[in-house]
Amino acid sequence: MEHNVFEEMAKRYDTEERMELAKVIVKEVRTELQNSHSKSLLDYGSGTGLVSLEMADLVDSVLLVDSSKEMLEVAKAKISHKAITNAKVLYSDFTQETHELKADIVFMSLVLLHIPDTKKILQELFNILNQDGKLIIVDFDKNDHIHHPKVHNGFLHEELKEMLHEVGFKSVDMKTFHHGQRIFMNQDASMFLASSVK
Ligand SMILES: C[S@@+](CC[C@H](N)C(=O)[O-])C[C@H]1O[C@@H](n2cnc3c(N)ncnc32)[C@H](O)[C@@H]1O
Repeated sequence: MEHNVFEEMAKRYDTEERMELAKVIVKEVRTELQNSHSKSLLDYGSGTGLVSLEMADLVDSVLLVDSSKEMLEVAKAKISHKAITNAKVLYSDFTQETHELKADIVFMSLVLLHIPDTKKILQELFNILNQDGKLIIVDFDKNDHIHHPKVHNGFLHEELKEMLHEVGFKSVDMKTFHHGQRIFMNQDASMFLASSVK
């Protein structure tokens, strides 16, 4: 697998700032997960589990998938420390390999911006979802102050919605839910939540 910057930052990933931002995301996504007690949730690009491990009580099972082994090591330690019995981890990059996995809900928080081919990963995640399954994406709105060779500078609602429809989602709801100071590469930015049904 290609060298991944997240391998190096795993043990110092959970800063105060990231934990604060994760709390905002957890609050928003928990409301999306009402009535999901029988559902399986796959958190793609889970990192250290800052978000999905705070939602494990709302679903039947959680699978944390990440292409960084070190991030998953931190997540595993938390799962054991918090005695969470319905969460597991999987080291994988779905842009490189295909899995036979299935899930009722796929969740992705602050990951889409790190994946060069947006449509390819959306297609992979669509394929993994069960019929009527839901893809929940949290990411940054397009931000012209940000320029980075390896990171998308956010997403335009209309463009992302169109792509989600193109890969096959029958409905897409998208809204900006948080504006924060210096939350995206030290710039003020806003985050959206997109909820799409297969
Ligand atoms: C900014 S972190 C977000 C972590 C977590 N979702 C959160 O909100 O706290 C991005 C994560 O995506 C993972 N990632 C990046 N590209 C990936 C890919 N192609 N497949 C799987 N994981 C990926 C990184 O290893 C990292 O853990």
